Amino acid sequence: MPVRSVVLETCLLDPIGAELRGADLGEGLDDALFGELKAALLEHGLVLLRNQTLTDEQQLALGRRFGPLEGEEFMVGREEPSLLVISNVRPDGTVAPAKTGQMRSISINEVWHTDSSFRETPAAVSIFRALEVAPEGGDTLFASLRLGWEELEPARREALHGLRAVHDYGAAYDRAGGRLPDEARALMTPKTHPMLRVHPETEKTGLYVSGHASHVEGMPSDEGRKLLEELVAWCTRPGRVYRHRWQVGDLVLWDNRCMLHRAQGFDEQHRRVMHHVRVAGDGPVVEPSLR
Ligand code: SIN
Repeated sequence: MPVRSVVLETCLLDPIGAELRGADLGEGLDDALFGELKAALLEHGLVLLRNQTLTDEQQLALGRRFGPLEGEEFMVGREEPSLLVISNVRPDGTVAPAKTGQMRSISINEVWHTDSSFRETPAAVSIFRALEVAPEGGDTLFASLRLGWEELEPARREALHGLRAVHDYGAAYDRAGGRLPDEARALMTPKTHPMLRVHPETEKTGLYVSGHASHVEGMPSDEGRKLLEELVAWCTRPGRVYRHRWQVGDLVLWDNRCMLHRAQGFDEQHRRVMHHVRVAGDGPVVEPSLR
């Protein structure tokens, strides 16, 4: 097999993440290119590639290079259960009116979160591809849970060991003013995860907190919520957030094991269509002390 010369140029994004230039993954993805992409993702937590021409099948194949994909049980009846379409465009091509179920299920993403924390084994990597973008708004914001941990004062860090948060997607939906359909609510039951985690590949410690967590196990509900909110606010404080302004053809990969993200609302008269593939995690969230 010919050895491909590695051509990616890395440009750091501000204040976190990296843009990789010099490849269109729609033209192929050999082992060397995939190796570079994965190494950059592990190092920076988020990578952006612009002007990509991938098809849905190529996006799914890219996800499978990282590992098995999520999607089967929550997307019954979809043509491709691992391709999550985040869109305000209905199957007939018209734009869904504001306040419909379709829009409410998008607005839950406007809370800082990390994907699939409603699972025993939350998602590892998310792969997002922009097909249609709103002329204004509809950005996605990212912050590092690893930096959030590294920059915490030692006394605050100490107090977090052993704490576990209850991630309750149904309750998060209720707080956002929506209602999770009963079928999904039955599947997305609350899950408890440590509030600190070791990244299974980089072995670095990070916080594991999210706006989709409702309380802290064994702590009065208000106190636990306040702690969760403080930690999310700490990770996402000014100067620590990368805001991605989407262009058609953008491909963004992020590592849910060390990153928070949230969507920004947009004028819902405009169309916004994103295709999302999620790589399954490879095991439950592990507390540093249990390694
Ligand atoms: C998500 O939170 O998974 C979606 C983000 C977005 O639509 O910008």
